[in-house]
Amino acid sequence: MKRYHIITFGCQMNEHDSETMAGMLEEMGMTRALTRSEADLVILNTCSVRENADKRFFGTLGQLKNIRESRDGFYVAVCGCMMQQQHIVDTIKEKYPWVDIVFGTHNIHHLPELLNNVINEHEKVMEIYEDGLDIVEGLPAKRLYRHKSFVNITYGCNNFCTYCIVPYTRGRERSRNENDIVNEVRRLVSEGVKEVTLLGQNVNSYRGENTDFPGLIYMLEEVEGLERIRFMTSHPKDLSPALVTAFKECGRLCRHIHLPVQSGSNEILKAMNRRYTREKYMDLVASLRDAVPDIAVTTDIIVGFPGETEKDFCDTLDLAEKVKYDSAFTFLYSIRKGTPAAEYEDQVPEDIKHERFNRLVECINASAAEKNAKYVGRVCDVLVDGRSRNDIFTYQGRTDGFKLVNFRSDRDLTGQIVPVRITGSNTFSLKGETDD
Ligand code: 5AD
Ligand code: SF4
Repeated sequence: MKRYHIITFGCQMNEHDSETMAGMLEEMGMTRALTRSEADLVILNTCSVRENADKRFFGTLGQLKNIRESRDGFYVAVCGCMMQQQHIVDTIKEKYPWVDIVFGTHNIHHLPELLNNVINEHEKVMEIYEDGLDIVEGLPAKRLYRHKSFVNITYGCNNFCTYCIVPYTRGRERSRNENDIVNEVRRLVSEGVKEVTLLGQNVNSYRGENTDFPGLIYMLEEVEGLERIRFMTSHPKDLSPALVTAFKECGRLCRHIHLPVQSGSNEILKAMNRRYTREKYMDLVASLRDAVPDIAVTTDIIVGFPGETEKDFCDTLDLAEKVKYDSAFTFLYSIRKGTPAAEYEDQVPEDIKHERFNRLVECINASAAEKNAKYVGRVCDVLVDGRSRNDIFTYQGRTDGFKLVNFRSDRDLTGQIVPVRITGSNTFSLKGETDD
């Protein structure tokens, strides 16, 4: 087995898990194949958060059947959040018996062993732990970018929002030791990383051996050579005044917060078990903006949660209009088997969900365009990610407020932080030019 291809669904956690798997496979001597048909091993790393992801996964899996059946030495592995659900594993056993390896989110570090079993013992393997709460340190990772990296700080979630499957698939929340995190960041910086994104379902409830989340930020602020610190995701109920102060005091902490609100209605927030009110949320945003006036605020919003009335939805629209988000991920509520909200009787009809969704997107796009327009004429530091996919003469990067900037350059500036003069804007990005 020489070449691997990983297809990742879902969030940054999954992307980072895929980087870890790629690192382990490369240590075994394998190399990355650009397409699935050139690979000897295809891994599908799945997401279970919404039904769409389930559908896309089964669609992709179905496409692999032909290659699997027509080519000897071609293996298919499936892993990730979906595999932590028994009914999914049962479906795979029944309808996709040709899949070679099934494993969950808790046993990624066993991948080399699982592969050996399949290749040498010619057996199918299925390894899904219910109780894999250990944190395994020191796994290699093959990063997508040289200049930026994800760093896990917590795993799992204890919040049990009533719509969400994550606490069931990723297990109870556990935090990494702060020294392990700082050492990993130091190592990354020595390898050329300029920006780290700290990952957790709820980074604000991070509890290290001797520090909380703001304390961890101050520790990382001291790492020499690190230019930018980001994090996601924040739960509003746990965002402390100390973190607001950290935004003011830590020069490397990027001026951006992703703060999922989910709904602007107090009744729906309660039914979602979010444990804050719209008033508390808006106060939080105000205190962040007091501390850092141009902080970019982004969010996640669910439309059509069971029981959502027109009045509840109008409260969401009203909150979005008042907060004026820089951007937002908007989702149609999707029933997740095993979560409390899946059992609620007053599910919202699909046509009403879609109609509300469109109204919300319009509102979000208007504030995003308005926010972006304010950058025209300014000079922003941009960390350059590389060439644009659509145009090889255009480079793309991010400001510290996470704004996507497209600009032309004769030089390859990938991995550098460069000043870019912003000359234009639209809903989703900024346009700029460099002085050279
Ligand atoms: N339906 C729709 N959206 C959901 N999310 C989580 N669970 C569901 C669901 N059942 C959204 C939330 C979360 C984001 C990652 O996905 O907005 O913040
Ligand atoms: Fe899901 Fe809520 Fe945990 Fe986020 S905080 S992962 S939405 S249960």
